[in-house]
Amino acid sequence: MVTVLKAWADPNLAALIKAIEAKDKAEFEKAYDTAIVGCNGCHAGSEGGPLKSMAAFKIVRPTTPLLSNIDYKGP
Ligand code: HEC
Repeated sequence: MVTVLKAWADPNLAALIKAIEAKDKAEFEKAYDTAIVGCNGCHAGSEGGPLKSMAAFKIVRPTTPLLSNIDYKGP
């Protein structure tokens, strides 16, 4: 699991961080979508644990900010 997680994390986090540092929204969205494909791929192949499998647990792009009680617009 650690190896599989590392195989997901190393390229995906690097791509996300690079896009954030470059403030490149298009690159960020591309990296984000690629990362999500990896989340779902691993969940689809998972087995064991209390839930037996994470296959039904599909990650998608968020449609709202993380916390609805924070106003991110600033002053
Ligand atoms: C290396 C494989 C792997 C990758 C990559 C992965 N997951 Fe998971 N995820 C799992 C497994 C296995 C579980 C079940 C763990 C357990 O038994 O509680 C899980 C559980 C979860 C849960 C449920 C946690 C809980 O018990 O409440 C969430 C939410 C989740 N993953 C989100 C994500 C997201 C978001 C990503 C991508 C950013 C991601 N996962 C990437 C393997 C993975």
